[in-house]
Amino acid sequence: MCGIVGYLGSQGAYSILIQGLKRLEYRGYDSAGVALIDGTGSLNIHKAKGKVANLEQTAAAGNTDGLIGIAHTRWATHGEPNDINAHPHVSQSGNIALVHNGTIENYAVLKQLLCEQGYTFKSETDTEVLVQFIDYIHASSDCTLVDAVRETLLQVEGAYAIAVIEKNNPDRLIVARKSSPLVIGVGDGETFIASDATPIVGYADKVIYLKDNELAVIERDKAISIVSIDSNTPTKIDVQKLKLSLAQLEKGGYDTFMLKEIFEQPKTLRDCLRGRITDNGSRVVLSGVELNKETFLNAERITLVACGTSWHAALIGKRLIQDFCRIPVEVEYASEFRYSNPVLGPKDIVISISQSGETADTLAAIQIAREKGAFVYGVCNVVGASIPRNTDSGTYIHVGPEIGVASTKAFTGQVTVLTLLALAIGQLRGTADSDTVKSVCKSLMQLPEILEETLKCDPEVQKLSRIFTYAHNFLYLGRGYNYPTALEGALKLKEISYIHAEGYPAAEMKHGPIALIDHEMPSVIIAPSDSLYDKIISNVQQVKSRGGAVVAIVSRGNTAMNDIADFCIEIPEVPECLTPIVASIPLQLLAYYIAVGKGKNVDQPRNLAKSVTVE
Ligand code: F6R
Repeated sequence: MCGIVGYLGSQGAYSILIQGLKRLEYRGYDSAGVALIDGTGSLNIHKAKGKVANLEQTAAAGNTDGLIGIAHTRWATHGEPNDINAHPHVSQSGNIALVHNGTIENYAVLKQLLCEQGYTFKSETDTEVLVQFIDYIHASSDCTLVDAVRETLLQVEGAYAIAVIEKNNPDRLIVARKSSPLVIGVGDGETFIASDATPIVGYADKVIYLKDNELAVIERDKAISIVSIDSNTPTKIDVQKLKLSLAQLEKGGYDTFMLKEIFEQPKTLRDCLRGRITDNGSRVVLSGVELNKETFLNAERITLVACGTSWHAALIGKRLIQDFCRIPVEVEYASEFRYSNPVLGPKDIVISISQSGETADTLAAIQIAREKGAFVYGVCNVVGASIPRNTDSGTYIHVGPEIGVASTKAFTGQVTVLTLLALAIGQLRGTADSDTVKSVCKSLMQLPEILEETLKCDPEVQKLSRIFTYAHNFLYLGRGYNYPTALEGALKLKEISYIHAEGYPAAEMKHGPIALIDHEMPSVIIAPSDSLYDKIISNVQQVKSRGGAVVAIVSRGNTAMNDIADFCIEIPEVPECLTPIVASIPLQLLAYYIAVGKGKNVDQPRNLAKSVTVE
């Protein structure tokens, strides 16, 4: 989704901005642009459709001087991806340049008003309306630019993170946010701004996470000032240490971030589990549960809200919480939940699951849940993101930055944390017996080694992927804990290889989808040795007898599937509740190698954004 970078300091802004845009490429975008004010007071804009490399080519022919600038990667919402719609947008007066992440919902009304005042527009974007409106207020009411920005934002409905510069003032950067993230990096005599902390790493080690409804004025050689947009009163500035390293943002010898992140999972799960199981392996300790014992003891229902892959983790979380805590559990797409007028009260716990912590729908869902009096718990990866800052309590998954657009290590981290959470709540409520807790804890502690073992299927999966590179459709089937694993396997394949794939509960096949089966429709069956193994065998036989090719993911040593499936990939045996984590590994690899075989850009698949900060 759109990315913002800005710089004010004593170095040439251009190279810092370009480097920042490259670090934000993982978010997904379709055009890019930069605005700089040079020493002569001229405002220079460069924009290009496509990759940041295209922008560099375009800008090379022009003036890229200046110690201040703003830059943007655009993920189109209003208007197709092209040079004109790319940001920065400039006011009609030519004085103000602005970049924006988010959507202005009432842009049509504001545009109409501006047209009546003689303003004309070059682009189809809502962002141009914003910059023109600032210009209009600035010109018509004789106020400062900072006041004009604030006044404009008071008129705006929707979500935004913005950065504004003024041609006549090369010493000031104005930024503001509502429902879209913005981070300020505080360096030595220089300031950076960005949609997330990645462009700031290596330049500044202190950051300020701008809060919703805040506007910051960054001026050369002056302290940063932050006010509330609503009340125009100063707000407390919380400067934090940035805990990200450059190594975490690099590929570490792998061809792609996605492959690095798949292979990192033994380590990331070790980080995720660290300190969360007692040394003797008998109990789970989660501070979020310990500090809110009464809430978890008195809860009458738990609702999990999330989107995409995180929603698949939520489906597994439902099974875990039901099994270990015996509480009614519901799972909702955050985008549906927010408009469903949910019935919630003080005995409800809403658990939001999000890798980025910035997904607009999930953020809106938890805001509604809190308004209705529910206790909101966050399971998030990005430390300091909006979701953890807007929840009552929570647990970080601690798997490090996930750069590949297709989520891999975050998914296994989310399922691991949900397992810990279900065990912790079950311990507290007395619904999880101590032997079960001990046995799952033991396997959890072995998970990093188990995943190392699982990853040894890589060459076999790579070979297998060649057989299926040109399939047009795929079915992924699973049952119980592994129905969500099937959904996740299908999502991985479709998002990076663009092959149509559907996840289905295996036993539902006979109620319709089995009609699709023929020799051109391969099925991937997730069939570890669990309580539904015998049932799934007969589901597979139904597929096989209709001519479909079958790839089965089975527990090591279980040979019953050998005679039925065309290909079997073995995974180590683990307790049933942990099978989704282990079974996901060959599914991630299969999707990866099929996509690579088709020549796709797996780290930045078309149309997708890493952090979906618009509705
Ligand atoms: C798929 C994927 C997405 C995200 C979804 C939610 O691989 O990554 O489906 O899971 O956009 O994002 P978060 O977890 O950041 O809220």
